[in-house]
This record gives sequence, C-alpha cells and structure tokens, in this order.
Amino acid sequence: MSNSSTTTNQRITFARSPRGLPVPEDFGRDVTLIPTVGEGQFLSRTLWLSLDPYYRNVMKNSQIYADRLAAGDVMVGETVAEVLESRHPQFTAGDIVAVRNGWQQYALSNGVGVRKIDPTLAPVSTALGVLGMPGLTGYAGTVYLGQPLPGQTFVVSACTGPVGSTAGQVAKHMGARVVGIAGSTEKCDYAIKEMGFDACVNYKDGDLAAALKAACPRGIDVYFDNVAGDTLVAVLRNLAIGARIVLCGMIEAYSMDTPPAGPWLGPVVGARASMKGLVVYDHMNRMDEMTRVVSGWIRDGSFRYREDVTLGLENAPEAFCALMQGRNFGKSLVKVA
Ligand SMILES: NC(=O)c1ccc[n+]([C@@H]2O[C@H](COP(=O)([O-])OP(=O)(O)OC[C@H]3O[C@@H](n4cnc5c(N)ncnc54)[C@H](OP(=O)(O)O)[C@@H]3O)[C@@H](O)[C@H]2O)c1
Repeated sequence: MSNSSTTTNQRITFARSPRGLPVPEDFGRDVTLIPTVGEGQFLSRTLWLSLDPYYRNVMKNSQIYADRLAAGDVMVGETVAEVLESRHPQFTAGDIVAVRNGWQQYALSNGVGVRKIDPTLAPVSTALGVLGMPGLTGYAGTVYLGQPLPGQTFVVSACTGPVGSTAGQVAKHMGARVVGIAGSTEKCDYAIKEMGFDACVNYKDGDLAAALKAACPRGIDVYFDNVAGDTLVAVLRNLAIGARIVLCGMIEAYSMDTPPAGPWLGPVVGARASMKGLVVYDHMNRMDEMTRVVSGWIRDGSFRYREDVTLGLENAPEAFCALMQGRNFGKSLVKVA
C-alpha cells in the first residue's frame, strides 16, 4: 500500500451550510480506516486538493450540482492523486490521476470520470488549474463564446485566477488587447508584467467604470465575467457596439444568502442562455420582408391584432399617460381626423 505504514485516512467533512462567508465551523473532521480495494476499483493517495469557488454553492446544496452533502459527508472536490493499488484494468500503481477524491487523504474510485495525468507536460498540480477544469473554462469561454478578434478589447475579471488568467492569455494569443480587472496592485502588476496584459484595473481603487473607460477608450468588445455584481455593472457602462459578454462566474454572490437586487443572472449560466442587444434600426432592410409576410397572415386570418383608439387630438395626452400606465389594450392610436 503506501510507503508509510499508515492505515488511517484523515478527512474534512461537511458540517453545515454556511451563512454568508464560510467559516471553519462549517466543516468537520474525522479519521477513518483506509478502505479496502474491491474488484474494478483503485485506491489512490491524494497529492493535491483543488479549492474552487463553486464548492460554496455545493455547500448550499444548489440544484445545479449533482453533489448532495449531508452533515458528516466528506467534502467533495477535485484532486490529483497517485494510484497506490489497483484492481481496475485501466489503472496501475504509480499512475497520476485527476480524480474526485474530495477532502481526504485516500479514496477508492471505480474509474468513472478519472483522467490520467502526463507528468511530463507540466507540474501535475496544473491538472487542477490551468490544465484542468478552470483552464478549460477560460479557454473554451474565450475561443468559442467570447471570440475576440485581433485588435478588439477583451476584459476579464478575477484576472489572476486560473480561469481569468487562462481567458486573458488565450485572448492575447488571439491578438486581442487584453485588460484585466483584479483586486490589488500586486495582482495588476502580475497581469501586466508576467502575463503580458495591456492594462489592468484595480477595482478597489475607486470608480471602476471611469477606470475602465480610461483603459478601454474604444469600449469593451468582449467581457469575460468571473464575478458579476458591481464589476459587471461598471463594464456594462463601457460596452462597444456588438460586444459579447461571457457570464462565467458570479463569485460576489456565492456567499450571499439571498440573490442580490436587480436581475439575477445566475440562471443564464445554468441554462447556457445567451443575451443579445436588439436595435430595430439595424434591421430596416427587412421592412419589406416583414410587411409581405405579416400582411399575408392578416389576410389569411392566421394573425390577429388589436388597436386601442382614442378619438380627438385633444385627448392624446391622456391616452399617452394611460399607455404609460399600461391601461391601453392593443396598439395605442389617436384618431385625429
Ligand atoms: N461557468 C463555469 O463552468 C465555471 C467553471 C469554473 C469556474 N467558474 C467561475 O469562474 C470564477 C473564477 O474561478 P477561479 O477558480 O479562477 O477562481 P479565482 O479567480 O482563483 O478566485 C476567485 C477570485 O475572485 C475575485 N473576486 C472578485 N470579487 C470577489 C468577491 N466578492 N469575493 C471573493 N472573490 C472575489 C478575487 O480576485 P480579485 O481580487 O482579482 O478580484 C478572487 O481571487 C468563479 O466565479 C468560478 O465560480 C465558472
């Protein structure tokens, strides 16, 4: 088994759903025996445990995750582990794997969802960060959703974390002008000096919308949002025509017990929905098409409409006020003559 004579397994358990920001008392700890390997299973020793913001939502037993936690359960989580003993045909002792061992030293796996790690690619810990789930998030969200074009302005929040740093550097490789948002001077210096971002704004320095305006004089073409809240509000005031917003994470809200005021966009992420701006004047070339199609439906009786007619120009103000109170029913018109 392990090279020590250890037979015990230390575990960190779920104690209760946090109220607001998590505190250590939301967790428990216990010690169990290292489990015995059954047919079709392998035992691994956790080398690295990933800590990810979404665990805070799992601790709420949020519907969007499959995991369900009851008091005393071992905390769930991604790990990089070394296979110690295997009765599984695809794994052998010594393999390094990305596996959901949770917050414990040893765990069994049946191999489902387990990924073998090639230690020659990069340090194995990266399988939990930039070469793992967070890296894939930043990469796919940028390449396939944000789609920055060369020269366009790409803004990313939480820009030094694994998701944000991947998103920003992928956008840089795609030729975009990349502006980070981060919460300290040290993080911003790292973004510019180490990751080659063109600029970085510290949102704790004051008026973020104004700082973004200065850093993005031609507006923001792509915003990769990792935090939501006030940061998203400031970005929304600086969008360029045709901007794309990738709603990736909403960490500001994870520790709130009730969703923040305003439209709560969390379900947009869960539903993989997209939001697009519509300005009718961009579609004026479709006026003839619309007139032909809809008038045809009116004539064949498959399209209904209503008009709410007020008689006399002198009654227009009252009719307009009624419209703005929702007291019209159908297209509000004034019959002038
Ligand atoms: N959609 C998906 O499939 C998916 C997948 C993975 C991750 N995510 C999301 O992506 C985001 C980044 O994840 P990550 O793993 O790369 O984390 P991370 O960036 O290493 O850590 C979170 C960072 O968020 C920033 N932050 C901003 N406002 C915050 C607040 N009110 N409270 C706490 N932190 C705040 C902090 O950086 P600053 O100091 O720079 O602000 C903090 O360091 C998270 O929202 C995560 O849930 C989404």
